[in-house]
Amino acid sequence: MAEIAKQHWSAERYAETAHFVPTLGAPVVELLAPMPGEHILDLGCGDGVLTEKIAAAGATVVAVDAAPDMVAAARARGLDARVTAGQDLDFDGTFDAVFSNAALHWMRPPERVLAGVYRALKPGGRFVAEMGGHNNTAAVIVALSTVLGRRGIDAHRLSPWYFPSAEAYGEKLEAAGFAIDEIRIVPRPTPLPAGLEAWLDTFAEDFLGILPPSDRAAARREVAELLWPVLMDERGIWIADYVRLRFRAIRSG
Ligand code: BEZ
Repeated sequence: MAEIAKQHWSAERYAETAHFVPTLGAPVVELLAPMPGEHILDLGCGDGVLTEKIAAAGATVVAVDAAPDMVAAARARGLDARVTAGQDLDFDGTFDAVFSNAALHWMRPPERVLAGVYRALKPGGRFVAEMGGHNNTAAVIVALSTVLGRRGIDAHRLSPWYFPSAEAYGEKLEAAGFAIDEIRIVPRPTPLPAGLEAWLDTFAEDFLGILPPSDRAAARREVAELLWPVLMDERGIWIADYVRLRFRAIRSG
């Protein structure tokens, strides 16, 4: 069964606090190298900033995302965007490539997503993606776990995220019928322009949303207090401990 995160996605909040996500996704578009006339599926398109770049290369792009508000924002850019969860892909041998940036770590179980990506691709089609990898936002997760632990809650049971190692995800890709062209972990310390607390609001609702509304601001503050000695630089800029898993794999057969 698909595990659906409790995070509510607001396109407006995303644009205000997380515009660095598509900006830093440029190397993944480069790895995709879209060609004029290709049919490409953007899986977990968010508000469509990168979908637009792929379309600008001359490809025909279908974009899917589980969050209706993000799909509405992508449609407002004139894109063919549809509300579909990555676990429920229903395309048959249609695409030359499937692209995904910063989305696969929200989609569990990964086997179900990979089966849908495989079916969506033409034989020989490519799957090019970047997601959170092993150790991604490790300090943030430890801090969330500490703060929720103080309240008798096990944060790890609440986590909607899946951050695999290159080896573990490589095995899943191969088991799903892909040949791996390249796969690697890329540590990417990431400045958070709106600060850590805004980041927690945008991305960590599955954790803090479990608390009574009256306790959420205090808990968020406690997380920030634990983290500032390790994640804030000497200029007062929050820099999150992002680690990416980037890969290019080919549908064999
Ligand atoms: C990520 O893109 O790595 C990420 C985003 C939100 C929460 C956790 C990880």
